[in-house]
Amino acid sequence: MTPLLEVRNLHVSYPQGSFWNRKLSPIVQNVSFDVGQGETVGLIGESGSGKSTIARALMGLAPITSGSIHLAGTGTLPRRVQMIFQDPLASLDPCMSIGAQITEVLTVHGIGTPADRPVRTRDLLDRVRLPVDSYDRPAITFSGGQRARIGIARALAASPSLLIADEATAALDVSVQAQILNLLMDLRDDMGLSLLFITHDLAVVRVLCDRAIVLLQGKIVEQGVTQDLFAQPSHSYTRTLLDAYRPLNSSVPSLKTPCHD
Ligand SMILES: Nc1ncnc2c1ncn2[C@@H]1O[C@H](COP(=O)(O)OP(=O)(O)O)[C@@H](O)[C@H]1O
Ligand SMILES: [Mg+2]
Repeated sequence: MTPLLEVRNLHVSYPQGSFWNRKLSPIVQNVSFDVGQGETVGLIGESGSGKSTIARALMGLAPITSGSIHLAGTGTLPRRVQMIFQDPLASLDPCMSIGAQITEVLTVHGIGTPADRPVRTRDLLDRVRLPVDSYDRPAITFSGGQRARIGIARALAASPSLLIADEATAALDVSVQAQILNLLMDLRDDMGLSLLFITHDLAVVRVLCDRAIVLLQGKIVEQGVTQDLFAQPSHSYTRTLLDAYRPLNSSVPSLKTPCHD
């Protein structure tokens, strides 16, 4: 598979401590992985393991101390790597029409002409299967699942090569979550997008991801083809994660509920 994204020996450090006693604290250490064209890769790890920091580094928003990030093709990282978040409303003006806001993204990136931008926006809203009257409605009038779709349309407006979903569906009801995940898979297949799925939900990784990366305290402990990783985890931490997940996946009904951070 042609690599779209190549991350090599990535280190990210944040300054920590008081003003008088500040030191750089390593958050992400020596992380290397690829994401192929049209491939879906899962990034798994407990809360605080550095998943979002890696996502921010890919968008050029984290202090990289060493290592490299290479994206095949032309265009800047901030445009070609787009992120969808758990709370799409946080990055939207709640009262402005979503049509105008998505059109604005096209303008910022110089995509299309002033005349055809609203047409492109309507096409994007249609792609994420929002109702036809959505263009003129403000963000606050949409349900949680529809807001997730708006977040996806907004990310797609920049015509990215890589879409990062950072726990994007974690807060949604299970049935709505399934619809959004299906939509992402369809978009991936239709548009040849690559996806980086950041999640603590191993069931999602198992169903959606071609490959998976396991992160522990800022370091990759294991990565591989999802099926192999689930069948034969080589690291004890991956085994611990899988053991915690198995009861949910067994055919025996279980009263255990998944943990959310
Ligand atoms: N802007 C920041 N400044 C200082 N420390 C940060 C910053 N962002 C994240 N961290 C620290 O980096 C670690 C990893 O955070 P994060 O990447 O958000 O983890 P995850 O997404 O896996 O939960 C945490 O210990 C967090 O406190
Ligand atoms: Mg995070």
